[in-house]
Amino acid sequence: MDRIHITGGTPLNGVIPISGAKNAALPLMIASLLTGETLELVNVPRLADIASLSRILGNHGVDHMVVGKRPGQTAETGQTVRLTASNVIDTTAPYELVSTMRASFWVVAPLLARFGEAKVSLPGGCAIGTRPVDLLIMALEKLGAQIEIDGGYVVAKTKNGLRGGEIRFPKVTVGGTHVALMAAALAYGTTVIENAAREPEVVDLAECLIKMGARIEGAGTPRIVVEGVSRLHGARHEVLPDRIETGTYAMAVAMAGGDVTLEDTRADLLHSALDVLATTGTEVTSTESGIRIRRNGAGIAAVDVTTDPFPGFPTDLQAQFMALMTLAKGRSHIRETIFENRFMHVQELARLGAKIRLEGDLAVVEGVERLKGAPVMATDLRASVSLVIAGLAAEGETQINRVYHLDRGFEALEAKLGRCGAEIRRVRA
Ligand code: EPZ
Repeated sequence: MDRIHITGGTPLNGVIPISGAKNAALPLMIASLLTGETLELVNVPRLADIASLSRILGNHGVDHMVVGKRPGQTAETGQTVRLTASNVIDTTAPYELVSTMRASFWVVAPLLARFGEAKVSLPGGCAIGTRPVDLLIMALEKLGAQIEIDGGYVVAKTKNGLRGGEIRFPKVTVGGTHVALMAAALAYGTTVIENAAREPEVVDLAECLIKMGARIEGAGTPRIVVEGVSRLHGARHEVLPDRIETGTYAMAVAMAGGDVTLEDTRADLLHSALDVLATTGTEVTSTESGIRIRRNGAGIAAVDVTTDPFPGFPTDLQAQFMALMTLAKGRSHIRETIFENRFMHVQELARLGAKIRLEGDLAVVEGVERLKGAPVMATDLRASVSLVIAGLAAEGETQINRVYHLDRGFEALEAKLGRCGAEIRRVRA
């Protein structure tokens, strides 16, 4: 298995281009199942999760074409992908494919809405918590789907198509909102989604669906109203910038020091995280095409954080922020409210010399003077990248094992950091 070796202690200086958002690209690709015409997606990141979903869509019969590179494009310029679901041959998503990536379960919504049936494997356990799909099933039932669980599969059917209804989520769910939007787009009549997720990726999906002919109002607010239409058509849509990649590199600069401009991204996608970073003593400035992050010399102030649905502090940046807080002056409290088991990075950060105590959903971090490199490994994507950040600021060499987690969600990580002066290299197994 590949490893990443980092020799820490060098500040980061330069420009990092931000990729298209993985968590927007995935539901957008799934939305291609809603129409027989071509959906063209621009700025799709080159990531293992995207490749996995392409395989899953291919299994349903979706035609997938990557548009050739244009002059000036590099390996890191997002791809343009054309997806055409004109010949769907199979409405089953098998366990072997769905178990590799949880988001692929969301295919249940467009398959059911367009073909009246879907058989999709339950996604199974996950390293960051139990992550059930009960609310996604509830949403589909509210639209008239008959659902059974059989042999580990969700078998969903509708006799005369889905019908609009009221979906009230008892807790905010991003996947639940994606599923509700896609199903309601082709349902007969009006659907009201209450307590909808407000994440930018939900807004991006809604904007793409609107381009495809859907009638949606209120995306980005807790109440979304969808007037169903009988068919959707092809469209072209650009994937929004990855706010988690943006926040991750911002925290890397805050921790290792330096001056980096994050390009092709937007501050409004992650205000809460940038506000917190500014409170730690990092300079954050919006530029014409992105965000400039600077920290030169000054210490890192300890700041308390609680994760929350958007516009709150994102759970997907919790691990990276904890890495930063390990070098803060004083004690900080980090509370995780979205997932019940998202602290696997704590033990690994401790291997680098961090002092963190866990009390249920709260991590109490005592800032230390310095971290020291060590071999580490992580069990999920964001936890892995928190170790990269910590390794950049630690003395000596850090080896990160199980790099495939990073490849799931960070495009060209070593190249982007390496160009800013980081001593980082991949050792192929
Ligand atoms: C999305 O997952 C993201 N994944 C996650 O990013 C992200 O951490 C999460 O939203 C929260 O922001 C993608 O977009 C592909 P949820 P999702 O449904 O949709 C509970 C990453 O690293 N819940 O908003 O699966 C659930 O257990 C990933 O890129 C139910 O109880 O998350 C959790 O506690 C990790 N029943 C909470 O809701 C359900 O039916 C929020 O989950 C569904 C969810």
